[in-house]
Amino acid sequence: MITHVFRSEPNMNQVKPVLLVKRDLDVATWVQALNQQMPALEVRIWPELGDPSEIQFALLWMPPPELFTQLPNLEVIFSVGAGIDHLVACPSLPRNIPIVRMVDPGLTSGMVEYVLYNVLRFHRGMDRYDAQQRAAHWSALPQISAEARAIGIMGLGIIGQAVAELLVTMGFKVHGWSQTPKVLKGVKSCVGEAERDAFLQNTEILVALLPSTVATVGLIDARFLTQLPRGAFLINAGRGDLIREGDLLDALDRGHLAAAALDVFSQEPLPVGHPFWRHPRVSITPHVASTTQADTAVGHVVTNIGRWQAGQPLGHVADLEQGY
Ligand code: GLV
Repeated sequence: MITHVFRSEPNMNQVKPVLLVKRDLDVATWVQALNQQMPALEVRIWPELGDPSEIQFALLWMPPPELFTQLPNLEVIFSVGAGIDHLVACPSLPRNIPIVRMVDPGLTSGMVEYVLYNVLRFHRGMDRYDAQQRAAHWSALPQISAEARAIGIMGLGIIGQAVAELLVTMGFKVHGWSQTPKVLKGVKSCVGEAERDAFLQNTEILVALLPSTVATVGLIDARFLTQLPRGAFLINAGRGDLIREGDLLDALDRGHLAAAALDVFSQEPLPVGHPFWRHPRVSITPHVASTTQADTAVGHVVTNIGRWQAGQPLGHVADLEQGY
C-alpha cells in the first residue's frame, strides 16, 4: 500500500526546504544542478547534517544503516537509482515516509544503450567472433535478420518500455513480460506467471530489467532457464539476485545457454574467485549499465519537492510492499 503521497497540508509559511545529499555521489555536480534549478533549496552533504531536525528531504544511494534515526522530521526520500532495494535494505528506513523512485532521461538512455549494445553483440555473433579471433580462427557465422530474432524483455517499466520501443524500431520481434498488461506498439505483452513459460519459450535473447523484490529474487533458476530455447542469450541489467548463479553457470556449461552479459550480481563487487570472472561465455561489467546523471535527474527531484510543498501528489512513489 502506498501511504502519504500527499503532504498533509501545503507549506504555506514557505519554510526553506532542506535536502540531504549523500556524499558518495558526484556531489559537486548534484549541488550545482540543484542550486541552479531550485535556488531556495538548502543542500547539506552527509555526514555534515547541521541541525538534523531541519532536514525534510533526503537524496540517497545506499544510506548508512542508522541514518534515518538521525532525521526526525524527514518528509520525503528520493532514491538516486531506479531501484529502491538499497533503501529497503536499510534497517532504520521508516515505513511511513514516501520514497520517490528515480526517473531520469539520462539513466534511461544509458540503459537503452547498454541493452542495445549487448543485443546487437549476441545477435550478430560478436561474442563468438571475439573467441574466434583469440584462436586465430577464420569462419563466417550465418547472418540472421532482426525480423527473425525474438527478444524478450522482463520488466516493462519506463526503462523496459524505452528499450522495447527502440528494438521494435530496429525490426526485432519484441515481446515483454510484466505483472500487468502493457500496450506498446509492436510489442506482444505477456502477463504474470500464467504466461511466463510461453514468453520464455519464444525468447532467443532475454533482457532482464526487473527490480529485486520478494517476487523476483531467485526467479531465474534452473527451471526458468530450461524454458528458454537451446542457444538462447541472457542479458541482466536488473538486479543480481534475480539469478541463481549456480543454475546459470550450469545452463552455460551444458550449452543450453549460449552466453550471458551480466552487469549486476548477488554480491557486489563480484568476488575475485567467482567463476563468472573466468567463464568464456560470460561478459561482466561492474554495475555500470547506466548511472543516474545529475544534470538530467535533478528536474525530477525539484519538481517533486515543489509538488510536495504545494500539497500536490508526488510522482513515481514506490510501493514498499511490492518493493519497487
Ligand atoms: C541502478 O542500479 C539503479 O537502480 O538505478
